[in-house]
Amino acid sequence: MEEWYKKITNAQSLEEIEEIRIAVFGKKGILAKEFAKMKSVPNEEKAAFAKGLNEHKAKLMEALNHKKEELSLAALEKAMKEEALDVTLYSVQSTTGALHPVMETMDKIVEYFVSMNFSVNTGSMVEDDFHNFEALNLPKYHPARDMQDTFYFKDELLLRTHTSPVQIRTMKNTRPPIRMIAPGAVFRRDYDLTHTPMFHQVEGLVVDASSKVSFANLKFILEDFLKYMFGEVEVRFRPSFFPFTEPSAEVDISCVFCEGKGCRVCSHTGWLEVLGCGIVDPNVFEAVGYENVSGYAFGLGVERFAMLIHRIGDLRSLFEADMKLLEQFA
Ligand code: PHE
Repeated sequence: MEEWYKKITNAQSLEEIEEIRIAVFGKKGILAKEFAKMKSVPNEEKAAFAKGLNEHKAKLMEALNHKKEELSLAALEKAMKEEALDVTLYSVQSTTGALHPVMETMDKIVEYFVSMNFSVNTGSMVEDDFHNFEALNLPKYHPARDMQDTFYFKDELLLRTHTSPVQIRTMKNTRPPIRMIAPGAVFRRDYDLTHTPMFHQVEGLVVDASSKVSFANLKFILEDFLKYMFGEVEVRFRPSFFPFTEPSAEVDISCVFCEGKGCRVCSHTGWLEVLGCGIVDPNVFEAVGYENVSGYAFGLGVERFAMLIHRIGDLRSLFEADMKLLEQFA
């Protein structure tokens, strides 16, 4: 009988335990055989013999159940270990997309002007000479056209060099008051660290009765806008020239890199030029048939804003699917 206790203790698997159970407790098992021996046991010893066997039966059953439980537990643990998923392992995941920094910046600009009650107008990228130049006080052969050389389909048809033609078309199609911005892609024959042949602009135009729109209005809105975009910066207006505005100004902010102290980015001036603006030239109003009105206009390059906000060194990297740059925005 002792050997069976040992067998139970040494059993390695549930299958082995099952084999032992059959061998011990089965119809032809060893217990059945032992009990069969009762017949030949003398009567006065029968009771003690049966008692001994029953004790063995109970003990063996207990040992067997105990071992069975132990082996089941071990089997479960083994399965859990083998089938476990390492959730920290790298897997092929879909990555989150994000707006391109230029579009993100454009959205922020548009958001500001919409909050100031400007409407958003768009136009076509292919324009004609009249809407892109002529109506904006840029007659043919005027030297100021050189600053905005572009791509021509034929003499009169070109890729717009600014979104100002949207303003011309809006003025032609509606009556004042007008309070609008024109965001969109524009094109010029340029390519260097700070210029690409395609870039984005947001231009604005406000037109109302002749006494209503002043340079002070223009100054207020641009200062407020630039602080919204760049935080607490100084804003400075510098006299300048645009054919379509008179007077005209270029607007600078104190350098966001050195806080106005002077560094490489601001050419040690402490200032960064960020947009152009002015009071709409009477010749422009004449071209669209407006009389007795006043207005201001402004225009800015969205890429330049994005570069200054995100401290991007080379404008071209924005258009070269530069993943190292773009992934930072995801
Ligand atoms: N249209 C000008 C440009 O693209 C920007 C501008 C708009 C300047 C309105 C002054 C007033 O350079």
